[in-house]
Amino acid sequence: MRLVKLLANLGYGSRKEMQLAIRNGWVTDTAGNRLKADSKAAHDDILFDDEPLDPAQGVVILMNKPVGYTCSAKDQGRLVYDLLPDRFRVRKPALSTIGRLDKETSGLLLFTDDGTFLHKVISPKSEVPKVYDVTLDRPMNGTEADLFASGEMMLESEEKPLKPAELDVIDETNGRLTLHEGRYHQVRRMFAATGNHVTALRRSRVGSLGLDGVDEGNWKVLSDTEKSLIFA
Ligand code: URA
Repeated sequence: MRLVKLLANLGYGSRKEMQLAIRNGWVTDTAGNRLKADSKAAHDDILFDDEPLDPAQGVVILMNKPVGYTCSAKDQGRLVYDLLPDRFRVRKPALSTIGRLDKETSGLLLFTDDGTFLHKVISPKSEVPKVYDVTLDRPMNGTEADLFASGEMMLESEEKPLKPAELDVIDETNGRLTLHEGRYHQVRRMFAATGNHVTALRRSRVGSLGLDGVDEGNWKVLSDTEKSLIFA
């Protein structure tokens, strides 16, 4: 891809601005040589203003989402995208979240600009397990684990039963629930169906990928090894 288009797609500025940046010598290779608009330098060898370029297309980002941020750009208020650098918000192709977390849910949220990867993660066929730490308003009644594991649980206004899910009871108001699908407000609705109410919900794992080392509100670009943990 031509350098001007590459930089503009990464969100560094308009094509005009990128032509100017190249003319001004702000775009170099790692050895400090000024690059021209028709340069064929590899992504990893390009510096903008002496800094390595943002990750190339095909990026996957892990965020530790705080409560209070929504995943849909159509919603009002604070968006998960506000926690990413400005440039990431105008990249082309755009970054999308891989599935969603509710405004009041925290924890592991993934983003990508790679549609094939996104569909692979959310496809029911992949059955990527998602682990949620749940805090409840009232003690569990003891029937939850069997009901959730039954493969017969129906949620209101749905036509298909839920896939079996595993509940590890930690104490009477705390549990860890592993889901193999992602329906709207699924965890909250599952506990609501047992007469309880979820007061705190945090996703701690997607596949074998955890939040290790990423504090709330922070994010990181995943390596290929980390990406593969999602399907491990
Ligand atoms: N289940 C929910 O109820 N909310 C989420 O954000 C994710 C799963």
